[in-house]
Amino acid sequence: MHIQVKPEKHLLGTKGLSAAEIGSILDRAAHWERHPEKVTNQLQGRFVANMFFENSTRTRFSFEVAEKRLGAEVLNFSAAVSSVQKGESIYDTVRTLESMGIDAGVIRMKPNGLLAELATKISVPLINAGDGSNEHPTQALLDLYTMRKEFGEFKGLKVAIIGDIRHSRVARSNLWALKTLGAEVTFCAPQEMQAPELAEHAPYVSMEESLRADVVMMLRVQLERHEGSLFGSAEQYRAAYGLTAERAAKMAPHAIIMHPAPVNRNVEIDDELVECPRSKIFAQMSHGVPIRMAVIERAMS
Ligand code: CP
Repeated sequence: MHIQVKPEKHLLGTKGLSAAEIGSILDRAAHWERHPEKVTNQLQGRFVANMFFENSTRTRFSFEVAEKRLGAEVLNFSAAVSSVQKGESIYDTVRTLESMGIDAGVIRMKPNGLLAELATKISVPLINAGDGSNEHPTQALLDLYTMRKEFGEFKGLKVAIIGDIRHSRVARSNLWALKTLGAEVTFCAPQEMQAPELAEHAPYVSMEESLRADVVMMLRVQLERHEGSLFGSAEQYRAAYGLTAERAAKMAPHAIIMHPAPVNRNVEIDDELVECPRSKIFAQMSHGVPIRMAVIERAMS
């Protein structure tokens, strides 16, 4: 018999999350950042399965660190060495782990929309670790956490998101959450990498205008999702849409650079900017652990 999980236990996306819910996750992450002791026992005896049907470094390992810091038992599923290779579906794989008694599942997958369907059929809370070009809510939450640490509040904050918007779940999750919190979001992308359906939520502006933002968020060119070449060579992309050192010099003194990573160095961002003082790229990664601790607690409380 399927036992319906309370919808608020799942984290499928930032779309529909209220400002209060976002604030509560960020506050709880701040608590965990202030308590850097390695491990608590609050999820002792509870099992979390990390089910990654697409590759990952940051999301997968920061979920694992977060789960272990909370004292949970962690099961790591990797599609490449599983029965997916024999043709088993994502649904049957998740049902299999559920039937073994997991208490929550963290899932990354390629299809858009399947996770929402799974959430109606699976009896444990599901956390979206990135689904297709749809949403990557924990990435957006750690991005918000990084911005809040820097600027304190979101109302009127200008965030320019530059790059492969069309294929970016990070852009979408940031857009929904930032708009809910009162920030002003703009996009900048070559025609081939624009998502026209998002234009009513955030205008497309020039590189010049994007550089006036408080937050300049660069996106990776997602070659693995492109069918054919979408924008000439890497050099041409860098010249037209890359954050070069010359362009970064035009940013306001208080402005910060963000990027969800992995980074194509010297394509969407110059190598020397990745670890420059105004770059928050590695701080974003370290914020992934307390954010994911907060999200797992929310799912399993
Ligand atoms: N930012 C991000 O999702 O990175 P991974 O693909 O390495 O998890």
